[in-house]
Amino acid sequence: MWKIGNLEISGKVVLAPMAGITSVGYRTFMVPFGASMCVTEMVSDMGLIYGNDETKEYLEFNDCGIPTGVQLFGFDPINFAKSAQIAQKMNNNIAFFDVNMGCPVPKVTKTGAGSSLMKNPKLCGDIIRELKKVCSVPITAKIRLGWDDKSVNFLEVISQLEKAGVDAIAIHARTRAELYSGTPHYEMLKDLQERMNVPLIISGNIFSLEQAIEAMDITGATALMVARGGMGNPFLIRQIDHYFRTGEKLSDPTIEQQKQWCLELGEILTRSMGELRAMRIYRGIATKFFSGFPGAKAVNIKLATELTDLNSLKRILNSIQI
Ligand SMILES: Cc1cc2nc3c(=O)[nH]c(=O)nc-3n(C[C@H](O)[C@H](O)[C@H](O)COP(=O)(O)O)c2cc1C
Repeated sequence: MWKIGNLEISGKVVLAPMAGITSVGYRTFMVPFGASMCVTEMVSDMGLIYGNDETKEYLEFNDCGIPTGVQLFGFDPINFAKSAQIAQKMNNNIAFFDVNMGCPVPKVTKTGAGSSLMKNPKLCGDIIRELKKVCSVPITAKIRLGWDDKSVNFLEVISQLEKAGVDAIAIHARTRAELYSGTPHYEMLKDLQERMNVPLIISGNIFSLEQAIEAMDITGATALMVARGGMGNPFLIRQIDHYFRTGEKLSDPTIEQQKQWCLELGEILTRSMGELRAMRIYRGIATKFFSGFPGAKAVNIKLATELTDLNSLKRILNSIQI
């Protein structure tokens, strides 16, 4: 058990926020595998302030059994605070707010939001300070190493965030310039937790239990995030959670389990967002359940080209004979 502010968290695996992926349906599916807390996709502060319908949809979730945070993005401390107040009125299941300080997408960074915030560590602190004034729940931040390899400033940003009263910090061990590729630089985060006053959550290339153990060993972090590694491999969460509770390594799932989970997630997404929308998104996720299995290529071509509704999903899954 560890704590973010006064929030008790049981387990070391956090379900990472992923725009376009970690919808309420996706989170509902992943929770039973052993996630200890989860976060919405990033939500625009101005979208909430203007009452944008699509933005408001991100806030429609019930208690899923573990603390769920809302991740906000923006650049102005006052607007962060205003949007958090609006969000709190809309949904009293919000367990914490997380501030996006890591998004590398130009559409976001050119407005001064996402990873652009790290160019101004004092501003990062000011955002947390304003949020702390108006929120009754803990405030966390998700950062990167810095903008690029010439401006690695995560220590300075962490210091500003801590001074402002942040309750936990997640760090994606890449710079903004590295986007999502290449090996994350956990060596730069060696024993970082020891030097911090709040829980550290690490992120970057957690695709296997071994990678999780190594990253935790190097950094001494309190928890880690499963992001892309959990797409099509929900059991990774169970393997990591179980290992850190018991020291025992569970073997990988069978193809039959993968087929069953692939159908289950397709059904949950369909229930939560309608078949058309769900299947459009699912083409990019379903294929990931079979990578690494012999015959995966043929299955994946079918999933990528023939998946239109739940019936076609069932037909394709039934045709898998591996
Ligand atoms: C498709 C996609 C969407 C993402 N969206 C967000 C987001 O909305 N907010 C955020 O803080 N990080 C976001 N991330 C970053 C992830 O949370 C995570 O830090 C990153 O993918 C590194 O972990 P990984 O290498 O294990 O995937 C996103 C990543 C991906 C691949």
